[in-house]
Amino acid sequence: MKITVNTQNKTVPLGDLYGLFFEDINHAADGGLYAELVRNRSFEFCEVDNNSYNHFTAWTTVIPDGARAKTSIQAEHPLCAKNPHYLVIDLYSGNSAAVQNEGYNGGIPINACESYNFSCYAACDGRPITLEIAIESIDGEAYAKTEFRIDNTDWKKYTACLTAVKTDYKSRLTLRLKTCGRVYIDMVSLFPQNTYKGRENGLRADIAQMLADMKPRFMRFPGGCLIHDGSLNADDRDSMYRWKNTIGELHERPSRRNNWGYSQTLGLGYYEFFVFCEDIGAKPLPVLSGGYDPHHRRAAPLDKLDEWIDDALDLIEFANGSSDTEWGALRAKLGHPEPFGLEYIGIGNEEVGAEFFERYPYFHKAIREKYPEIKIINTAGPFVSGGEYNRGWNSANEYGSDLIDEHYYLAPEWFIANHHHYDSYKGRKTKVFLGEYASWDNTWYNALAEASYMIGLERNAEGVALACYAPMLANVDYVNWRPDMIWFDNHRVYGTANYYVQKLFMTNQGDTGLAVSVDTELENEVMPSTLGNKIYLAPRGNAVMECSDIEIISEKGTVKHPNITVSAENPHTLIGEADGNYTIKMKAVRKSGNVGFFIQFDYADDKNKRFIDFGGWENQDSAICENINGRNSCLDQSRFSVETGKTYEIEVRVENGLITHMIDGVVMNKIRGTEVVIEPIYCSSSVDEKTGEVIIKTVNLRQSAHNAQLTVEDKTPLTAEVQTMYGWDDTARNSFDKPDLVSPKSDTAEVHDGVVSYTIPPRSICVFRIKV
Ligand code: AHR
Repeated sequence: MKITVNTQNKTVPLGDLYGLFFEDINHAADGGLYAELVRNRSFEFCEVDNNSYNHFTAWTTVIPDGARAKTSIQAEHPLCAKNPHYLVIDLYSGNSAAVQNEGYNGGIPINACESYNFSCYAACDGRPITLEIAIESIDGEAYAKTEFRIDNTDWKKYTACLTAVKTDYKSRLTLRLKTCGRVYIDMVSLFPQNTYKGRENGLRADIAQMLADMKPRFMRFPGGCLIHDGSLNADDRDSMYRWKNTIGELHERPSRRNNWGYSQTLGLGYYEFFVFCEDIGAKPLPVLSGGYDPHHRRAAPLDKLDEWIDDALDLIEFANGSSDTEWGALRAKLGHPEPFGLEYIGIGNEEVGAEFFERYPYFHKAIREKYPEIKIINTAGPFVSGGEYNRGWNSANEYGSDLIDEHYYLAPEWFIANHHHYDSYKGRKTKVFLGEYASWDNTWYNALAEASYMIGLERNAEGVALACYAPMLANVDYVNWRPDMIWFDNHRVYGTANYYVQKLFMTNQGDTGLAVSVDTELENEVMPSTLGNKIYLAPRGNAVMECSDIEIISEKGTVKHPNITVSAENPHTLIGEADGNYTIKMKAVRKSGNVGFFIQFDYADDKNKRFIDFGGWENQDSAICENINGRNSCLDQSRFSVETGKTYEIEVRVENGLITHMIDGVVMNKIRGTEVVIEPIYCSSSVDEKTGEVIIKTVNLRQSAHNAQLTVEDKTPLTAEVQTMYGWDDTARNSFDKPDLVSPKSDTAEVHDGVVSYTIPPRSICVFRIKV
């Protein structure tokens, strides 16, 4: 196999191609990257956030035998009206009464000889009291402690530095009232002094370092669905994410419901995001809500959109304005007089529906007019193809969005099969921001499939400007979503196989693409299909559907099936079999319920099938989906809602691999089913302009090795360093015990007479850095 590049044969600058996606999902911020160790520090947890929460969540009251005491929550004289609740401890008799915080993951992690900054606000009711602060074992062994004499009746901040004498990952923070009387307490905080770059209110050093090590070109924040799933009122507990709520004094940031089912302190707010981006050399890429919540279909009235547009304009001023401007002055006051150099802004997260796209132009025009240099990002929804995807692209084309945010989570086979997905996107004015993608799982096979796809992203960097894997972080004890790139608990962290692939590609991105050619006698291979030929009807949720006039028409003739009711009571009805080209027809009417039903075809077993999702996701979708080895891919989606009592004529056609779904004669979805073709090798090349090194990346999905000769036509290779990933079973994955089982190794390739020779291992990723 010969792989050839020529440094004169440049394609396009690779710019900011690879970056990070941050969302506070899986406790990625609180209980994750944000280094605060106290959970529910301001006693604001409540059932709006999660119906198992209350103001005492993560706190335990400890009243020793012989003492008479009480703990309660009040809100009459708050430290800040935005976080009104605070703790009251009354000790009527006895030696002490205490509360203990258990932190995240069942304990507060401390390391021997390390120091921790404690702070809280406290007051007494006139009678001076003594409050002891201790880091203790579950059994009460003190690892560090201090005492405060509290005689103020107005809120006052108390601080102390506690140095631990032992390591314990399950310790408790205890606040112990040691004299009879009453104490009011709020905003209890314990931070390790060892935060990333030693910043106050900073980030967990180990997790942040793993991100910094990737050398990302950008970081998108603060989400994800968390941006737009919420109420329109910025003061509501369940409001959408509003950046102005996330800056300034910590006790003034209103903690809120995070839509992933927990509470969010906003301690890691916009200022901290910008600073972190700067610290790791990543361009900040904030994404704001467009005044529309597709989860609950709440839309800001068009005549009230100014508030939302101002949020976007003010954010740009906050990031880039001089300290003479209102928002620039605030940034300077917070400690950063220099601008943050914002270049990108996203409006909307994976939006679907006309409501968002009615609103987007107002944002677009206002930002373009005031800040023509800012690159504006539109959104193409959460699907890789179909009506909503096209709606996003049409809007981007109409208004001239600089980028469009595409999201998809699909089977690894889809990523392999769609290596050429972006080949036709060259020359478009709007560039793709692949703002969320991952194949389902964190095995070596997933990482390998993603790597083959990323080669396609690099080859198509003219159409694809930015890409980031998602989600980024997951606390193992609070999982909302999997897969994730980095997993952690309260004291350990590891990168997945996918992390190492992302890191390998990011740290070897190169500045400018080079055309690369491959000369081989090997042919493409087709991966055997796992699908079958059975056709079933299956219920969705609580819907009761009556199906009639059911026909399966194939080359063998027409087979009719008697009328059936599809409901939870009649879960899975075989209606026939068909191979090759065929058509399924039926009438369907919903008798009750909120969603629709499934028509399953090409069915082998429950893990390997295709299906029409008729009235899916909150009764908003019509989709063609596919399961391969249990992993779902939504191949095409359009907006459609089933109405009770209305009869629909449904037709599903399969013709030479092309699937067409029609409702009442109208094409709702049309897409090819996944056929996995494995090419002999996937290859990209780029040049590092600073060092002049030529970078060649190869992904070999075959089970056999390739003896490769790499040449740089117009230059003479001198040395070639290689980083390789290979040698694992497809199911191999990293873990706390084996954190870098699947990770790159370094090697050197032989160079003779200007030719680099290397045996590219089977099922491998290789990155060559060739000095010329
Ligand atoms: O990354 C997890 C979620 O996936 C994001 O919040 C959302 O944008 C997408 O649906």
